[in-house]
Amino acid sequence: MVKFLDLKKQYLEIKEEIDKAIFEVIENTAFVGGKYVEEFENNFANYLEVKHAIGVGNGTDALEVALWALDLPKGSEVIVPANTFIATAEAVSRNGLKVRFVDCNKYYQINTKSIEEHIDENTSAIIAVHLYGHPANMKKILQIAKKYNLKVIEDCAQAHGAMIDNQKVGTFADLATFSFYPGKNLGAYGDGGAVVTNNDELAEKIRKYINHGRSEKYNHEFEGRNTRLDGIQAAILNLKLKHLDKWLKIRNKIAKRYLNEIKNPKIKLPKVVENIYHAWHLFVIQVENREKFIEYMQNKGIETGIHYPKALPKLKAYEYLKQDCSNFKACKEDKYLVSIPIGEHLDNYKINTIVNRLNKLRF
Ligand SMILES: Cc1ncc(COP(=O)(O)O)c(C=O)c1O
Repeated sequence: MVKFLDLKKQYLEIKEEIDKAIFEVIENTAFVGGKYVEEFENNFANYLEVKHAIGVGNGTDALEVALWALDLPKGSEVIVPANTFIATAEAVSRNGLKVRFVDCNKYYQINTKSIEEHIDENTSAIIAVHLYGHPANMKKILQIAKKYNLKVIEDCAQAHGAMIDNQKVGTFADLATFSFYPGKNLGAYGDGGAVVTNNDELAEKIRKYINHGRSEKYNHEFEGRNTRLDGIQAAILNLKLKHLDKWLKIRNKIAKRYLNEIKNPKIKLPKVVENIYHAWHLFVIQVENREKFIEYMQNKGIETGIHYPKALPKLKAYEYLKQDCSNFKACKEDKYLVSIPIGEHLDNYKINTIVNRLNKLRF
């Protein structure tokens, strides 16, 4: 059996540390806020080389909070790539803003040409998603943002530790968001997220907002909301952060093997830009007949995933926008996408099984 993701295996490898960390939080009753959250926020900010990291309840809240903090004109349009998880777009609508979809490029990242084509007088911001762990073209995106006076948020939910020219993603834009959903490259044992920024003012504003608009207990400057990282998750993340670079190296090693050893014209491998460090959250290939492919892999006990079965503009949830995206590459190729296992849970035997199976594919 080759699992797509094996969180149990990872837990067993670091069980002693994890159990101790959880027990310590309970012993100290530091359940919400407190030293473990503070410690993680500092460690994560240092890891990224960014000034502020603010823990929140999950990656979706992180996006919502980041958009709120930018104070964009109500009803203005925020540019979102057509291929991403729905949370990226949901956060826009939930802030009273309008989603404007743009296409993706051959690296599955937001297409900068398409961004420019969709900018008009109502556009206020761009959300750049580093999809699958591959960085979006931040240099170009920031140039466009400057030209049209737009704000930029990086959605780094799938890209902890990814880099462009040795600079970590999450440090390029006004604000960046992370998810620590258990299956992410840096995952908690429940929900978790963070907003990061180099901007002191935005950081202070967000810290108050996520904690009922308060600067101190019962002194509420404005109505905020409650979305906080809890102590147990922070302690777990603190510990797992120490392993992240090692796990990313393993992901890169596996990806290199796949890219070098899968030689089958029936399979379209992912392309990678030069000068980047890929977080390889997902290894996404394209096959002609996805359903048959999934079954073919299952027959050898290999699990697969789909990210995502339908591009966002094709979902019922976005019919109301009436944005015709039928000519988008992202909307045409979604039916071919399939993710194969990648992660530190795979040993050489399992990687060989996957490579062999893929090289034998004949349809
Ligand atoms: C690209 C992207 N953005 C946002 C999110 C939302 O994160 P969460 O599930 O922690 O709310 C996810 C993950 O699920 C994601 O993959």
